[in-house]
Amino acid sequence: MARIIDGTEISRVMREQMAQEVAALKAAGITPGLSVVLVGNNPASQAYVSSKTKACEALGMRGQTLNLPENVSTQELFAVIDRLNADSSVHGILVQLPLPAHLPYKAVLEHIHPDKDVDGFHPLNAGLAFVGDPRAFVPCTPAGIMEMIRRENIPTRGKHAVIVGRSLIVSKPLASLLMAPGPDATVTLTHRHTQDLASFTRQADILIVAVGKQNLITADMVKPGVVVIDVGQNRVPDDSSPRGYRMVGDVDYAAVSEKAEAITPVPGGVGPMTITMLLANTLQAARQMQA
Ligand code: GUN
Repeated sequence: MARIIDGTEISRVMREQMAQEVAALKAAGITPGLSVVLVGNNPASQAYVSSKTKACEALGMRGQTLNLPENVSTQELFAVIDRLNADSSVHGILVQLPLPAHLPYKAVLEHIHPDKDVDGFHPLNAGLAFVGDPRAFVPCTPAGIMEMIRRENIPTRGKHAVIVGRSLIVSKPLASLLMAPGPDATVTLTHRHTQDLASFTRQADILIVAVGKQNLITADMVKPGVVVIDVGQNRVPDDSSPRGYRMVGDVDYAAVSEKAEAITPVPGGVGPMTITMLLANTLQAARQMQA
């Protein structure tokens, strides 16, 4: 049976260390602050945003949510971001995605000041990260995956990391982090148009799946001893749960964990790490603004 990579426990250790850094910054007169902009009332987004601001407060940082109506105009949204850009008590700004279809999400992300872009989605930060510049804000999910791999002592040098998915939020930045000097992995990126996906996933020493499709990866698609990082967050109806649903990843967890060397569970794997790295990026923003 696979070793379970416990994102909740790794997060607890990291957050304990960060709480001390927050306390030191506060003693120096700076309270790191994150402002999250949420447009509309998508229940999954509401839940994510609430975990983000609660995690901030638990660490002694300021966490604020600005909830805008579903039909907010681009100009109104820009005005809110302008105000946060100019507010020196706000170190990190995050606009929760996905945005309603009438809003131009790329222009919205570009409107966030790059120094406060704790998601790392502004093209300037994406470019800095791509060239390996330490000033970049690295997107939280890939940063959290790298931190898990490092802290679990999973070998990467010369190993074949196969990524399923090609998103801007996870897969593209993760590919450049894994192939960079240090990790030194060989990276293959696959996506919905890849022919014979299983022929790639079976080669993986490390398999990262970030698609959003339950049971996309079955046991016959992995080789024995693989390390599996499951980024999927899928809600499936479950009458026995008080919420009426439960979360599952993109991997057939029960069957794949029979073959894998290590695997991240859903929930309790990548999810808590993403929030932990958001806290880390907010701290980085506060530190860089002070410098
Ligand atoms: N929606 C899903 N993941 C993310 C994320 O990491 N940041 C933002 N802003 N929105 C998301």
